Amino acid sequence: MLNYFDPKKDSYLDPTKDYGTPASSSTQQVKLTIDGQAISAPEGTSVLRAAALAGINIPKLCASDNLESFGSCRLCAVEIENQRGMPAACTTPIRDGMQVTTQSPKVAKLRRNIMELYISDHPLDCLTCPANGDCELQDMAGAVGLREVRYGSQGENHLDAAKDTSNPYFTFDPSKCIVCSRCVRACEEVQGTFALTIDGRGFDSKVSVGVADNFMESDCVSCGACVQACPTSTLMENTVIDAGQPEHSIVTTCAYCGVGCSFEAQMRGDKLIKMVPYKGGEANSGHSCVKGRFAFSYATHPDRLTQPMIRDAITDAWREVSWDEAFEFSARKLRGIQAKHGRESIGGITSSRCTNEETYLVQKLIRAAFGNNNTDTCARVCHSPTGYGLKQTLGESAGTQTFESVLKADTVIVIGANPTDAHPVFGSLLRKRLRQGAKLIVIDPREIDLLNTPHAGESLHLPVRPGSNVAAVNALAHVIITDELEDKDFIAQRCDDEGYQAWRQFISEDRHSPEKTQQDTGIDPELIRQAAHAYGNAKNGAIYYGLGVTEHSQGSTMVMGIANLAMATGNIGREGVGVNPLRGQNNVQGSCDMGSFPHELPGYQSVADDNVRSRFEAIWNAKIDAEPGLRIPNMFDAAINGEFKGLYVQGEDIAQSDPNTLHVEAALKSLDCLIVQDIFLNETAKYAHVLLPGSTFLEKNGTFTNAERRINRVRKVMAPIAGKEDWEITQGLSNALGYPMEYAHPSEVMDEIAALTPTFSGVNYDKLEELGSIQWPCNDLKPLGTPTMHEEDFPIGKGRFCITEYIATSERTTRKFPLLLTTGRILSQYNVGAQTRRTGNQQWHDKDLLEVHPSDAELRGIRDGDSVSVTSRAGRTVFEVKISERMPAGVIYTTFHHPESGANVITTDNSDWATNCPEYKVTAVQIDKVTEQSDWQKSRSDFSDKQELLYSTTANSGNKNSNGRKNKDKT
Ligand code: SF4
Ligand code: SF4
Ligand code: SF4
Ligand code: FES
Repeated sequence: MLNYFDPKKDSYLDPTKDYGTPASSSTQQVKLTIDGQAISAPEGTSVLRAAALAGINIPKLCASDNLESFGSCRLCAVEIENQRGMPAACTTPIRDGMQVTTQSPKVAKLRRNIMELYISDHPLDCLTCPANGDCELQDMAGAVGLREVRYGSQGENHLDAAKDTSNPYFTFDPSKCIVCSRCVRACEEVQGTFALTIDGRGFDSKVSVGVADNFMESDCVSCGACVQACPTSTLMENTVIDAGQPEHSIVTTCAYCGVGCSFEAQMRGDKLIKMVPYKGGEANSGHSCVKGRFAFSYATHPDRLTQPMIRDAITDAWREVSWDEAFEFSARKLRGIQAKHGRESIGGITSSRCTNEETYLVQKLIRAAFGNNNTDTCARVCHSPTGYGLKQTLGESAGTQTFESVLKADTVIVIGANPTDAHPVFGSLLRKRLRQGAKLIVIDPREIDLLNTPHAGESLHLPVRPGSNVAAVNALAHVIITDELEDKDFIAQRCDDEGYQAWRQFISEDRHSPEKTQQDTGIDPELIRQAAHAYGNAKNGAIYYGLGVTEHSQGSTMVMGIANLAMATGNIGREGVGVNPLRGQNNVQGSCDMGSFPHELPGYQSVADDNVRSRFEAIWNAKIDAEPGLRIPNMFDAAINGEFKGLYVQGEDIAQSDPNTLHVEAALKSLDCLIVQDIFLNETAKYAHVLLPGSTFLEKNGTFTNAERRINRVRKVMAPIAGKEDWEITQGLSNALGYPMEYAHPSEVMDEIAALTPTFSGVNYDKLEELGSIQWPCNDLKPLGTPTMHEEDFPIGKGRFCITEYIATSERTTRKFPLLLTTGRILSQYNVGAQTRRTGNQQWHDKDLLEVHPSDAELRGIRDGDSVSVTSRAGRTVFEVKISERMPAGVIYTTFHHPESGANVITTDNSDWATNCPEYKVTAVQIDKVTEQSDWQKSRSDFSDKQELLYSTTANSGNKNSNGRKNKDKT
């Protein structure tokens, strides 16, 4: 097991050890003796933790180092010189000169008596209990020397209490409960959901899920914190109950969202039993959400592609081939296209789901082997405006803080993000800060769950009309300047004066006042003024934003507006402040860092720069085109025009995730060679000529970079089902194209990245092993990485204020399209749902629903559960309706996790002016009650059925993968 480095304490801690109570943040040391051993620990540390740090393990049951001490079990009783009784070590803070005795006949007798009472109301089935070998109650019974129980089990007990098996991932067996409250406290303190409570008193006390009948019907969001906290088998993973305790583990990184949680993949042989959030993971500090914790069965789902396949036309049946034949076929096709249509007629798309090393290799393949810069990434359709906007203003295309920084924020603005669903572990951290009293300002058309955080302080909701973000951020800045809330010192010292003066004049104009912008934003001017004062007057004000900022026609302008706001108030360059994009996918930051964009080599270095190119050319031994290549939408347009004929797509389902599906499908159908590298037969694969079966995060080595710029190791837990890690597939394709790649391990790819990318120059796998993770920039100046950016200055010297003129989107409501549709995510599903739809998470969300305000529904005679047709300028599809008041009247909302709903059939081609990031968040539509599917849905299912037939005809004919394994259920 790795020890993790805690840079704040300059020490190594054992992440497998429970130190009993949380660490104290005090810098004052206190000296005491425990069992005669002289020790010192920070003031505020409990006796229990101080002893644990010194290697003295006091028995405990109700205490855990991720929960505030509670003092209910009394098992940790100790004796303290000159103090009466036997105080609980977990609730007693250390004092200077304290002398503690943890072992004496008196405390031993007390502990045995306590344990005897627990065991007398506990099933005596240790040998057959699924927790056998991993049960704190069992361990503590041994630790206190309990040998017999004097009380029989004939009296009143809880041994027949019924199990709750409603949750797909864990079972609640109250017969084993010792009512230690760890689960209740974990749900409150760590997760912030407050789904559990202790009902009754004394002997009748029991854990309850509030007024609900069971976990599934309760407020529980299945984060697993209670399961992890439980010291018995009362709350236990079903996989452990079914398969037994794991035997070994490997630390790796979640492959869902941009929080980048670290997990121990706990294995039994080569079977993954459970994913346990890793306490040493600095992004998550031992917490998780339902996706990373439980939704991993997709990795062994029978739908996994296991064999390379090729076909000449998309109407042909697939042919299983060897890897070599698939590479040669692909190379022949691509070279043939280039010979006929020119060097620029092919390109590729990298994936934010894949590792840094894999992404780096794909863009290298395109630039060096294809000989052009036609590389783009799925970040194009999510956070490309972040890259552009932050680079223009702050000089670096990345968020400025660690997640933990939010614990020092006094006012937090959340714009166009829904962290409790889309970035749940960060959402829990933010909720913790809100419970501590930080103010919350949400700028979003929807009333997101964060606004209903239990026991939180003050909050404001600014329900901005979709498409008018820039008007809203300008109004906030207008109040900051005209009410003189700006930080004059920061601006004078850290920002470019000329730019500031121009911006100040612009933003002071009356047309940006809350009153004048109200018609566009729909926000009550008083709310804008209150929000501006809360942020402008905060000691520390932090901004977090998501795709509700970027996926607009003015996405880049809005990002610049946010950076302007932070610079104007001096909220940059220390903990508790900053500008923080919440990245959607696990490796969005990394895929951008690795040079996926057509105009930038790794590290955001311009392809037009001769010096940059010549450094890459020397190491790559290839000529690099100085002209930027095509972006994804340009590739689609060029394909439809017949100029672009070959596309290599690694791990992105563009047919489902990109806007205006009909246009995307037309482009894909125009290609002569579409190579899809993925783990499933996704929507895009239905138009493919080559299928290269990819590997999941469990089957590969590499690194992901999360939203904090944190580079985390991904470690191989099991062999790739199809025989190759994704980087090996790209390497095979490159070699077949005649451009040699000979890496033996992803660490060699990282060494090359470090040699070519100044912000990564200090990164290598050995250092990652030692430190656990590294936040870039990591170089000679910052050898341990950079938790907080821009502390002294900006990479561009002075911060640059940018003029953010509000230009209304052309996507406006009309009599024909009177409603605005906006989209978002839900906790249990992930993006296009390819993974989560193949897990137990389906039980929470098996279809996309259209949320419609009651007044809009009533006007059209629509009721909850009705089917409605949604028609936009781009297309038409049909959804089931859910009546909801979370959006204002005139705005409707849906998710996009299920291909059959076709959410992107109706989104348009409109995009951000600077980056072409699609305007997913604003589509003018009309809705009408209908009884049958749309034409697109009917034709899609016909086409899908045919494609699946073409695939299954092949896959069922004795298909074996390269390991000789049959293509069948491997769960
Ligand atoms: S799984 Fe999470 S949300 Fe559900 S009860 Fe446990 S701690 Fe609370
Ligand atoms: S379910 Fe587990 S954690 Fe919760 S009170 Fe019972 S024994 Fe303690
Ligand atoms: S918060 Fe994100 S990274 Fe963490 S477990 Fe959930 S999906 Fe994975
Ligand atoms: S561990 Fe201290 S009272 Fe329970």
